[in-house]
This record gives sequence, C-alpha cells and structure tokens, in this order.
Amino acid sequence: MTLSPIIAPSILASDFSRLGEEVRAIEGAADWVHVDVMDNHFVPNLTIGLPVVQSLRKATSIPFDVHLMITDPQRWAPAYAEAGAYNVTFHAEACDDPVALAKTLRAAGAKAGLAIDRDTPVEPYLELLPYLDTILIMTIKAGFGGQAFMPELLDKVRDVRRRIAVNDLEIRVEVDGGIAADTIERAAEAGADAFVAGTAVYGAADPAEAIRKLRGLAAGAMGVA
Ligand code: DX5
Ligand code: ZN
Repeated sequence: MTLSPIIAPSILASDFSRLGEEVRAIEGAADWVHVDVMDNHFVPNLTIGLPVVQSLRKATSIPFDVHLMITDPQRWAPAYAEAGAYNVTFHAEACDDPVALAKTLRAAGAKAGLAIDRDTPVEPYLELLPYLDTILIMTIKAGFGGQAFMPELLDKVRDVRRRIAVNDLEIRVEVDGGIAADTIERAAEAGADAFVAGTAVYGAADPAEAIRKLRGLAAGAMGVA
C-alpha cells in the first residue's frame, strides 16, 4: 500500500528566537514538525532538548517528529514520548538494544523510529523493521543542516523498501538531509514516503508554499498525486 507523503519541516533551519511563530507558519501545510535534538556528544553540534520540546508542544497541534542525535537514548528518549512527541527516533549507532527501546517508546504512547547515519549499513537492521514505526535514513552525515544531499545513500532506502514489500510491513521510510525541490523526487522514487526538509522550507520566502511544492513533487514521484 502506498501512503501519502509526509512532509516534516525541520525547525533547525528556523529562527530560534521565534520558534512558536515559525511552527505556526507551517500549520495546515506540514504533516509533522521535525525536531533535531543534538547533544554535542553523539554529534558535535548542540541544539535543543526536552524543555524546549515541552514548551513548543503547547504552541501547535502539528505532530512532533523528534530526531534524537544523542548518546544514551535509552535514558532520554522516553521523556520525549511523555512530552507528547508523536514519533521519537533514536540512532542505531547510539543504542545497543533498539528493539527494547522501541517497545518502551510505544508503551509510552509514541511511534518508534530508528535512524541510520551516513556511515552505517542498513542491512543488520532490516530484521528489526517489524518493531519500528519509522526508519530514518540519513541522506547526509547527521549533525548540521544545510548539507548537500548524498544520492548514493538512497541504496539504503531501496533496501528498506524491498524488505517492506516482501514482508508486507507498515512502516514509514523517512529521509533527512538535503531534501529540496531538486532532490525529493529521487528520494521518493527510491522508496521514501516521509521527507524532512529544513533549509528548503525555512529558507524559502513562503515556508507553507515550499511545503506544498515539495508535497506535490513527492506525491508525483510516488504515484499518489
Ligand atoms: C541534520 C538534521 C536534519 C537537518 C536537515 O543532522 O538531522 O534534520 O535539519 O536540514 P536540511 O534540510 O537543511 O539538510
Ligand atoms: Zn533530523
């Protein structure tokens, strides 16, 4: 079954001094708000954490897609589910028991996502797909917004999509990094159905219009337009 595309703007590219307004500017256009949590350990960058997510949760009704680029997600991830995140994604490289954490997140009321960074093969994780709601394939190296899309990483998306088809699984295949009008169709053709976009949305003069354009391109490439 082909689902409609999910467009998830990343607030990493928004104006952090006006986070509430920036999120409200995409209401009615975005499916999820992508929240990049970075801890200066798992990745060199440092962004926002739980207090900001808790505050922002009250500012919008758009579901939150929390992307944890942190060490020790077993310790921190459940609190994001409790804070009302719709989907909580943690990194495979940071977690030694992804199935256990996915179960914990689901028990806390969230969808569970597993992220695969640039240098990590997806093959060892394909058998975990039934325990997950989302698999996020990085199309850059995690850590910073505004990087160039790496099309060679779409082979991992193809591998995941094949396994989903063979086993008839229900899981979102999300891509993150360099997704824009000139790359989203390639990602969709490879099998992605959820698309994070930071710069392409918040760098645009009209973020809501940028989302609609991305959605149209993705839907066309997915054959659900
Ligand atoms: C980077 C983050 C991305 C980032 C994407 O590690 O995970 O979500 O915000 O930014 P763009 O869309 O600008 O590549
Ligand atoms: Zn992200």
